[in-house]
Amino acid sequence: MKFLIDDANIEKIKKIYEFYAIDGVTTNPSILAKAGKNPYDVLSEIRDFIGDKAELHAQVISLKAETMIKEAYKMTEILGRETFVKIPTIPEGLKAMKKLHAQGFKITATAIYTPMQAYLAAKAGADYVAPYVNRIDNLGANGVESVKLIQNIIENCDFSTKILAASFKNSNQVQELCAFGIGAVTVSPDVIENLIRNASVKEAEQDFIDDFEKLCGQGKTMLDI
Ligand code: E4P
Repeated sequence: MKFLIDDANIEKIKKIYEFYAIDGVTTNPSILAKAGKNPYDVLSEIRDFIGDKAELHAQVISLKAETMIKEAYKMTEILGRETFVKIPTIPEGLKAMKKLHAQGFKITATAIYTPMQAYLAAKAGADYVAPYVNRIDNLGANGVESVKLIQNIIENCDFSTKILAASFKNSNQVQELCAFGIGAVTVSPDVIENLIRNASVKEAEQDFIDDFEKLCGQGKTMLDI
């Protein structure tokens, strides 16, 4: 299962990359708005940092298929042809997906709230479908269960499309999908850090250090004895 960062803040991205094994970065227009700079400058800086092999997902803005397609051309010209173009899963988006898929673009169908949106996007040739786990929870439905249903649809309908689950707000949502096994998850830096934040681990590590220092002396490690 791929593990991506859902953010455009380069400092946060660098910090997460330093500690964790990461497969790429996803953004959306709201995430780019938080960066407060020209989106192409922000995305290019991310692309330069993560390299050509890692996944970069960036979203079109238009609501019309013809303009979405033009945006996809410009975005991939600047950010690299391997960039995943995120397209909202609305009728105009599906029209754009069909055409872009036929032209060899990498497509992430986004803003997925229902399994049937995912079905239609897979049918249109999307490489990834991105269900919004927490936003589905907020509607009173079950985000994790929706993702599982989408995985069943993909497998049973024999699509090669993968799931890129998004919009996580807590560790349990991520953990449930790790246990189930899907194509990818994209997680914000604060939720990633919370996956491993645990006072008991800190305490255990301090106990080990205290015991070792009692034996070998203050500040000593296996290098000094
Ligand atoms: C992916 O990039 C999605 O756009 C994103 O995860 C949505 O997250 P949000 O629900 O926190 O806005």
